[in-house]
Amino acid sequence: MDIFVTGGAGFIGSNFLNLLVPRHPEHRFINVDTLTYAANLKNLVSIADRPNYLLERVDIADRSAVREVFARYSPQIVVHFAAESHVDRSIHAPDSFIETNITGTFNLLEAFRALPAGTGKLFHHVSTDEVYGSLGEKGLFTEQTAYDPSSPYSASKASSDHLVRAYHRTYGLPAKITNCSNNYGPYQFPEKLIPLIILNAAEQKPLPVYGQGSNVRDWLYVEDHCEAIWAVMEKGRLGHTYNVGGRNEKKNLDVVKTICSLVAREQGVAEQTLLDLIRFVPDRPGHDQRYAIDASKVIAECGWKPKRDFESGIRDTVRWYLQNASWVNDVRSGEYRQWIETNYAARQTQSTRETTGGTP
Ligand code: NAD
Ligand code: TYD
Repeated sequence: MDIFVTGGAGFIGSNFLNLLVPRHPEHRFINVDTLTYAANLKNLVSIADRPNYLLERVDIADRSAVREVFARYSPQIVVHFAAESHVDRSIHAPDSFIETNITGTFNLLEAFRALPAGTGKLFHHVSTDEVYGSLGEKGLFTEQTAYDPSSPYSASKASSDHLVRAYHRTYGLPAKITNCSNNYGPYQFPEKLIPLIILNAAEQKPLPVYGQGSNVRDWLYVEDHCEAIWAVMEKGRLGHTYNVGGRNEKKNLDVVKTICSLVAREQGVAEQTLLDLIRFVPDRPGHDQRYAIDASKVIAECGWKPKRDFESGIRDTVRWYLQNASWVNDVRSGEYRQWIETNYAARQTQSTRETTGGTP
């Protein structure tokens, strides 16, 4: 079958392709990606020359380009990863989140719906647990939890989930949705907490922790997420949502301290030297306190379970970033540097205002 993998050059999409292209020579995987700042074709060198892998540079927000690529391949399956994915960016500049995450998903659904009758077998929508908003100290997100997104990012993903579900109910479009917790692992762009802290610690730069670092995230190793998506694609029920998570709840400050300890060990420096780099910076507006996933439905129905515990996953992730300097240098040039300046300079100004009580 021909499988469109949108956003296949990003963090999760490239891990998905690296895992599944060699395993399934009977399928042709077509990576449909416009290659934003978050994409990196170096993520895909190990599969780039495989006969069952292709790249199509297409912006999913461009309706006619989407129509054209669907007409050319008539894919039976779409796995939709493409998105603007960083919450802080969505707070600074929401526009591209609306265009890619909402309009882009709409364009894909319309193109899928227009395929010749009987062609489209599955539209698998990859989404996030952030659509459910924030948990208090107790409880887990289930598939029945009401949507309550807090950021422009999560609101745009919630909108896309609603569109996918509506297309299933209204037009009978064969769709499935997975909502997953925070991923970590190789190829994650270093604007997200885990790679950012690893790389800053390795260079003994300040380690920015929002608020008091008490927010909780439920971390899942990226390959476990990819395996879950494939398991749902194969065994999940059409029209259903599956929550995916590894029951690895950690406070941000504890994650940062764990990374300090691992980087210190790898580099032979004193752990305290790295812990002293932790800086509590002004909090993210609308910062969700806690995410935690009840994954019992995907476990029971699709036979999936996570293989990696946090201890081994984070150790290997730290090693991966320390050992892949050329990948790191590549992504840290240009756009990344500019973003770091916008985000953390704004926080610096905010912090000065708060401490001096000055006017905005
Ligand atoms: P990412 O930011 O690393 O990669 C996004 C990819 O989408 C990039 O390759 C980018 O070029 C592509 N893209 C962006 N806009 C596009 C457009 N208009 N047209 C075509 N391609 C475009 O994101 P990620 O972390 O790999 O996340 C992938 C998906 O998984 C997203 O839908 C995200 O909401 C979801 N998700 C992520 C996490 C996480 O922890 N990272 C957790 C749960 C769900
Ligand atoms: P992030 O990796 O941006 O993922 P998400 O916002 O999708 O959960 O952030 C993970 C957590 O880490 C989140 O609670 C915000 C926090 N955080 C920091 O404390 N410092 C940082 O520099 C970043 C980027 C995030």
